[in-house]
Amino acid sequence: MAKSQSVFVCQSCGAVHARWQGRCEACGAWNTIVEEAQESPQAVSPSARARGKGPGLSFQALDGVAQAPPRLATGIGEFDRVCGGGLVEASAILVGGDPGIGKSTLLLQAVAGAATRGIKSVYVSGEEAIAQIQDRARRMGIEKAPVQLAAETRLETILEALKHEKPQLAIIDSIQTVWTDTLTAAPGTVAQVRACAHELVRHAKKAGTAIILVGHVTKDGQIAGPRVVEHLVDAVLQFEGERGHHFRILRGLKNRFGPTDEIGVFEMGDAGLREVTNPSQLFLDNRGHARPGSVVFAGIEGTRPVLVEIQALASPTAFGAPRRAVVGWDTTRLAMILAVLETRCGLAFGGRDVYLNVAGGLKISEPAADLAVAAALVSALFDQALPEDCVVFGEIALSGDVRPVSRADARLKEAEKLGFTQAFLPRAASSNTTATTSSQTRRLVAGQSGVKHRVIATAADLVTTITGQEYPETP
Ligand code: TYD
Ligand code: MG
Repeated sequence: MAKSQSVFVCQSCGAVHARWQGRCEACGAWNTIVEEAQESPQAVSPSARARGKGPGLSFQALDGVAQAPPRLATGIGEFDRVCGGGLVEASAILVGGDPGIGKSTLLLQAVAGAATRGIKSVYVSGEEAIAQIQDRARRMGIEKAPVQLAAETRLETILEALKHEKPQLAIIDSIQTVWTDTLTAAPGTVAQVRACAHELVRHAKKAGTAIILVGHVTKDGQIAGPRVVEHLVDAVLQFEGERGHHFRILRGLKNRFGPTDEIGVFEMGDAGLREVTNPSQLFLDNRGHARPGSVVFAGIEGTRPVLVEIQALASPTAFGAPRRAVVGWDTTRLAMILAVLETRCGLAFGGRDVYLNVAGGLKISEPAADLAVAAALVSALFDQALPEDCVVFGEIALSGDVRPVSRADARLKEAEKLGFTQAFLPRAASSNTTATTSSQTRRLVAGQSGVKHRVIATAADLVTTITGQEYPETP
């Protein structure tokens, strides 16, 4: 007879402990450990053992006939692209994001788009009443789409309905509200979320439905409380944006059917989300004349080049330790760039508060932004603006050397498209000229793209290019 016993599970990270304790040793969170009943694994039944005797598994060669999975396009281009060209049948996607960021809005639009294109779609909400969703649909002008709506939170009822309706696409908003009879734990706990997500994903695979689960992000930025759902699903998309800004970014974090790190850009308006097909224009919007501390970075987000403005301010410290504040970039990386500028170029940031901001609320993780950040800092420190029509990209090593980055051509092409005529960039990766003198590297070279290349070999080279002096005194 299988005996059921208790385990103690951290509701934040999912770690299992043998006994209750106030603090989870795995993630350090306090008061997150909850007792859960755990059934011990069932003894293998004789019939199952008999089944295990024969060659129950047939192996296949790797080079079988590859068939691209059929895609269900929602017609919302930015959404479909992040999914890798549309939704895949019999797959599960998790869409995470802060509460109120617009997940329900996005998915209501996606489901309406899919339904309009003849894909049988249902939308199950555990958070809002039907009338509320209908009202929102009316405001967004998509109320005519043949979407089937339901408000339900009990897993068994939802699964029953899905089996009966056999939709091609089902949205569950949100996974944290769904609960199953089989567990005593409260809805939203790790045990409930894990069990419900597991059952829904299993249904997706069995019935061939594409299921999208909505998940809230917890305080520390993890989806669905802990990461327990992320490994169950085929794709994890994150919907993010700054509250004060009207645009939103859908980012692929994991995708079994497409590229990761792809982004889709949307703008939140009165009638729902609008696709932004040229994000550079949005991020550079309202950029006036060239100002000290402002630099345009030619970045790559997913497969697309995106130009963003990086702003820096270096103001005298009033008292105490100088402040370093960063929005949209990595604090450690900023400390590294400051250290390189101080050590390799003799600049002094010690008496300055340093603020760095990526305009528009985009979060940049590419090391290629190093050179743009350094340029913004130097420009702010010396109160010297860069040329107005100039983009910057390149990675900076601790030695102060500027390293080549991937897809320089794509970056330059985007810059040219938006009217930029010159670029501060590293020496091309393929170039084998190892001993270029700095006067040579600073020469303007006409590139293929029509944007003039100004090769920056080292951080010191950057300082000289911006200030016009070699090893200038910090003002
Ligand atoms: P919602 O989709 O409910 O967020 P989530 O499901 O991620 O919690 O979005 C709610 C916010 O979006 C709300 O603050 C209002 C705003 N919004 C608009 O600005 N315009 C619109 O057309 C809609 C539907 C929502
Ligand atoms: Mg919602």
